[in-house]
Amino acid sequence: MTPQPIWSPVALSNMVDPSTSTGAVVNGAELVVWRDSSGKAHVWEDRCPHRGMRMSFGFVRGDHLACLYHGWQYDTAGQCRHIPAHPQLDVPQTIRMQTFASAERNGIIWAGSTTEADPALLPAEIAGLVPVRSLYADCTMEKALAILAATPLPGVSDAPKIETISENYISLTAGATRLLVAIQSMGDAKLALHLMANEGAPIAALARYAQALRLALETPLAEVA
Ligand code: FES
Repeated sequence: MTPQPIWSPVALSNMVDPSTSTGAVVNGAELVVWRDSSGKAHVWEDRCPHRGMRMSFGFVRGDHLACLYHGWQYDTAGQCRHIPAHPQLDVPQTIRMQTFASAERNGIIWAGSTTEADPALLPAEIAGLVPVRSLYADCTMEKALAILAATPLPGVSDAPKIETISENYISLTAGATRLLVAIQSMGDAKLALHLMANEGAPIAALARYAQALRLALETPLAEVA
């Protein structure tokens, strides 16, 4: 079995506003990614311990995430703190979410493979990056890497110089443009690619590049060649 990365990207930071939640999938595991009102990002299993409702359908109340179904509220540690049908109840410690470590680095929200994933294993910080966009494609990691390495960046005809920062994080450089690609394996040959670029890079052209890239990722390699 292929070992899973310790840290997986799950979203561009700018796509998850404070006091909102969204869903993400990493290697088949469904996750909720949410920000409390202070702006801190959290990643949990996307399943309420009560009746299994998706927590990504829920709503943020200050530093609690509330389930849409019966309104149970969980604090930032994942502990259930309030059950509306029993407002006086001292909620048992056993009612809690499955949480994962979370961190933000280089404009990306990363999910740890466990609650205790080591932040020292996150990619090194790169200053001065701006978001381009995320794209989703039915494609294997190997094919994505091959196409990223062969596809010229906007305004430069040569293939980019490719640097592998980690197994799911690469850097493409061509001319004055540097594109960072964090690759989220959703499972079963489904990927999400989260793109950040250096300040001063042609963001509009890179967004068009990303759109063309998505089409290439979903086209059989023989046709791409
Ligand atoms: S299913 Fe979440 S509170 Fe009931």
